[in-house]
Amino acid sequence: MDHYAVFGNPISQSKSPLIHTLFAAQTEQALDYIRIEPPVNGFEAAISHFFSQGGSGANVTAPFKIAAFEFANERSTRATIAGAVNTLQLRKDGSVFGDNTDGPGLVKDLLRLAIPLNNKRILILGAGGAARGVLQPLMEQKPATLMIANRTPSKAAQLASIIQHANLQSCGFDDLQCNDASFDLIINSTSASLSAELPAVSSDIIAAASFVYDMSYADRATVFMQHASNLGVKHVYDGLGMLVGQAAESFYVWRGVRPSVDPVIHKLREAL
Ligand code: ATR
Repeated sequence: MDHYAVFGNPISQSKSPLIHTLFAAQTEQALDYIRIEPPVNGFEAAISHFFSQGGSGANVTAPFKIAAFEFANERSTRATIAGAVNTLQLRKDGSVFGDNTDGPGLVKDLLRLAIPLNNKRILILGAGGAARGVLQPLMEQKPATLMIANRTPSKAAQLASIIQHANLQSCGFDDLQCNDASFDLIINSTSASLSAELPAVSSDIIAAASFVYDMSYADRATVFMQHASNLGVKHVYDGLGMLVGQAAESFYVWRGVRPSVDPVIHKLREAL
């Protein structure tokens, strides 16, 4: 029996133990998976203890993703670009590998939802850790444009400078209005949904999108999803599939097996 855990503070809300238990049953893998809540400055001690007691791998969530990045001895390219790690794996030689599966989780979910990305115009709202974590995997889909728009434009510019590519651009929310460009897909990565707020983006920009995706999820449509639906956007989705997608990718890193996400998304949706 191999041992896994998710580290965060707070962590009681985490659905990762349920998701990985469902994956393990589905793929007939022998593992257990628990929640661990270190004090906010106690990640390194807690993860070291976990690995010394037989832990094989871990997921890491807020506020420890940067501490996990620093803890890893080696990191994937996508984790390096994200500047954050959500998946740790203890290797046989005792070294620790750090990966970030948030971006692949998002892209996997967008493709599952049949949202075209290649050669499309994508707008991502927000320039915090959530946006940074998904930039490189989104760029790998070769969109015509990936525009990062943020309330604080300088943060969007800083983020865009991480990947030097002509198709990756940045602006403030107001610049979007002047620009009169429309987007095929708008992704909300801001933390505004958590406080039931709307990013101050012009309704015209949102109404013109074919697809809207909010990286947050709840037991009902988020305010951003409701706003987009009210403006007539037909295809509006939340981030529950991204949550399950990032977990599936972590499971693959640890176990070399890709579980199927649909039955797990379905089960979680029912339980929300
Ligand atoms: P996370 O890791 O969830 O991305 P973060 O790094 O604190 O969290 O970033 C939060 C993001 O949400 C930022 O882009 C923030 O915009 P600012 O850089 O201007 O602060 C954005 N955000 C939070 N509340 C918002 C709101 N009410 N309207 C618009 N953007 C908001």
